[in-house]
Amino acid sequence: METARTGEWVEEARGLDEYQQQGFPTQIPNSEYTSHEFQQLEREHIWNKVWQFAGRESEVPGPGDWKEYKILDQTYIIVRGKDGTIRGFVNACRHRGNVLCQGSGTAKRGFLCQYHLWSYDLEGKLLGMLREKAQGDLDKDDLSLIPVPVDTFGGFIFLNPDPDAQPLSVYLGEDVNRLLAPYRLEEMTTVMNVRENIPCNWKVVMDAFEEGYHISGIHPELLNVIALDPTTSKFQFFDNHSVACAPFDVANSLSPEDEILGIKALPETFPGTAAVMPRFDELVSEYQTDDGRVAFPDGVTGRTILQQATRDTLTGMGLDVSGLTDAQMSDNHGWVLFPNLFMTIRAGEAHIVMAVPDPDGDPNRCIWHVASFMWLPEELRDVYKADLVEVDEPGSYKYFLALQQDYEQMPRQQRGLRNTGLKYMSLVKEEIVVSHFHHVLNKHIAGL
Ligand code: FES
Ligand SMILES: [Fe+2]
Repeated sequence: METARTGEWVEEARGLDEYQQQGFPTQIPNSEYTSHEFQQLEREHIWNKVWQFAGRESEVPGPGDWKEYKILDQTYIIVRGKDGTIRGFVNACRHRGNVLCQGSGTAKRGFLCQYHLWSYDLEGKLLGMLREKAQGDLDKDDLSLIPVPVDTFGGFIFLNPDPDAQPLSVYLGEDVNRLLAPYRLEEMTTVMNVRENIPCNWKVVMDAFEEGYHISGIHPELLNVIALDPTTSKFQFFDNHSVACAPFDVANSLSPEDEILGIKALPETFPGTAAVMPRFDELVSEYQTDDGRVAFPDGVTGRTILQQATRDTLTGMGLDVSGLTDAQMSDNHGWVLFPNLFMTIRAGEAHIVMAVPDPDGDPNRCIWHVASFMWLPEELRDVYKADLVEVDEPGSYKYFLALQQDYEQMPRQQRGLRNTGLKYMSLVKEEIVVSHFHHVLNKHIAGL
């Protein structure tokens, strides 16, 4: 018996028209992108309070592996214990507060504070201090590192600075857990990973990836490949998060030959599709007529062949895609996990864009972080695994074309938003995911 595939939600989901009356805000004050006061509110109600992306499990693969996670001027240690559990601690020695760790590394036995040599085990317990017997009555059990909630989902590490945080699974919600599970995100390898401090507010980044309205203006070459039709998009809005699906179809698909040409051009824009092309060609050849033309029977299109080729290719590589629908073989789903993780995901691959406020608290800057993940057979994972690139010199890293176009656009928007003569941005119907994001943001700022 075939079990229901969670991706079938798209068939029943509501489109733009049905969501129009939702009451999500459409006028967004630009001061929220420029003022120190609003940045303070975000710090208090969001960055100190919510679950946030803090890395991939693969960054701390073995016992003792640790990494520092920084948000604004706060710093935390994330470390895998001997028991395999990943834990989080405030990155400050309990003696006189020195930072214990910077960057990442492996601590086989534990952490040693450089200042006066207090030491802690991987579970945060104070092990010893210099000339311990001579230091008076200190209760070592009271001087463990201060724990912070850390949990994992889909291979991602999440951290919440609030010691009373609800569990991550509750924050994400049952639907998010269930809908994302069949993609097997936790088995994917990081193949691109770049961070850079850029001159725009963190929400400029989030907004930019939550709508396709700017594709005609900023990414015109995408129009040669994808047919854009916002009326076919489907949405689900959760308490904090959202998912949108714009069904993939090739542009100008007038004849089977044109459709095939459109799909064959995909790898130029979506490199993840390159591996699928040999199987795609094979499947297409079944419909080739003697005169070299292509005739599709009813129900067969370039889209359905692409889906079949993707399923066959991934299955052949060893990825179990039985839990994913045919549409999920070709269609990207855009997820927003509040506050700062945008992910576009399709069978076998995912791309994320994140942004955190500038560490020094300048509302006109942020650190954006872009990463790609692919499902690869075991023997290829180390070959394609990418380390984090921290870009220090603006413009020195060349992002792939579409990302480069966004990278160049975002500071331009920030400069406009800094004008005090402008009072608010005006969102259109097609930007409903952006509206929902600001609805959730307002709810958190209000402490709800
Ligand atoms: S501050 Fe860490 S040992 Fe003194
Ligand atoms: Fe874009």
